[in-house]
Amino acid sequence: MTYRNFIDLWQLDASQLRAILDSAHAMKRARSGWSKGKTDADAPLAGRTLAMIFEKSSTRTRFSFDMAMRQLGGTTINATSADMQLGRGETIEDTARVLSRYVDAAMIRANDHGDVEAFAEAASIPVINGLTDRSHPCQIMADLMTLEEHGVALDGARLAWIGDGNNVCASFMHVAPKFGFTLAVGTPARYAPEDEDVEIARNLQGRIELYDSAEEAVANADVVIADTFVSMGDADAEARLAELDPFAVTQDLMGLAKPGAKFLHCLPAHRGEEVDAEVIDGPQSVVFDEAENRLHAQKAILRWCFGK
Ligand code: CP
Ligand code: NVA
Repeated sequence: MTYRNFIDLWQLDASQLRAILDSAHAMKRARSGWSKGKTDADAPLAGRTLAMIFEKSSTRTRFSFDMAMRQLGGTTINATSADMQLGRGETIEDTARVLSRYVDAAMIRANDHGDVEAFAEAASIPVINGLTDRSHPCQIMADLMTLEEHGVALDGARLAWIGDGNNVCASFMHVAPKFGFTLAVGTPARYAPEDEDVEIARNLQGRIELYDSAEEAVANADVVIADTFVSMGDADAEARLAELDPFAVTQDLMGLAKPGAKFLHCLPAHRGEEVDAEVIDGPQSVVFDEAENRLHAQKAILRWCFGK
């Protein structure tokens, strides 16, 4: 079977990423008003099964991938690593070889990015990164789709990432050069993005600006993006909350961005920590469209992985 993995956004061509977004927009439009469980007219993944493996918690990724496969005409099998022998020391490579004999594709949410790469290397089916400590590519496809729906032209736009320079921030950096937007990152020095991810983007001529002030990063932005200050697997919650507090997205901070700037957050959110309720629940926030678009974007990602 010819197939493609979806591990990190810098690995795809700009034209491939554009095609995935176009397909996501078209599929969303085509089923407007339909009941959510109804299969798409062409059922492109009929007869296909996706294994979903979770080493960490998930609401959006779990439910949106499951519904994505149903709408595409396929099915899923869902397990946490604790349910599997993986949780008792079976190797990631043996798990990949075995699952490749049963299912048609795998989506993995892993603690260690290297495990997704090792799984993909050993597997003979498409593998999708459903979030690791280093990146969250599916999320960013939904985010970009949402911005386009809300009238943001990505080429030449200015996006401001405020808070922890984490996995979600890394995927925004990876894709900045592909769509031509500038990413201005405002973090405390200790929580700046990994050099490797900045280099990946800059080597592709991505415009990445790094600041140690939220105010400087957000100035004149078309979009302001926040994420939790304490990601899954982070040990130092108290220190993080204290040091990241000046990077909370408040209405005053939003006032430094362009008038009408959009607010994105991948969720789950912590009102009163990384974002004030008046921002995330206010008129500039598009976070629930963003969450919905996980479904539509992932349908397009799944089709691309299968060459459909
Ligand atoms: N944004 C996101 O990936 O949410 P979940 O952790 O609920 O899947
Ligand atoms: N940065 C967050 C994203 C959750 C979807 C985490 O890794 O926990």
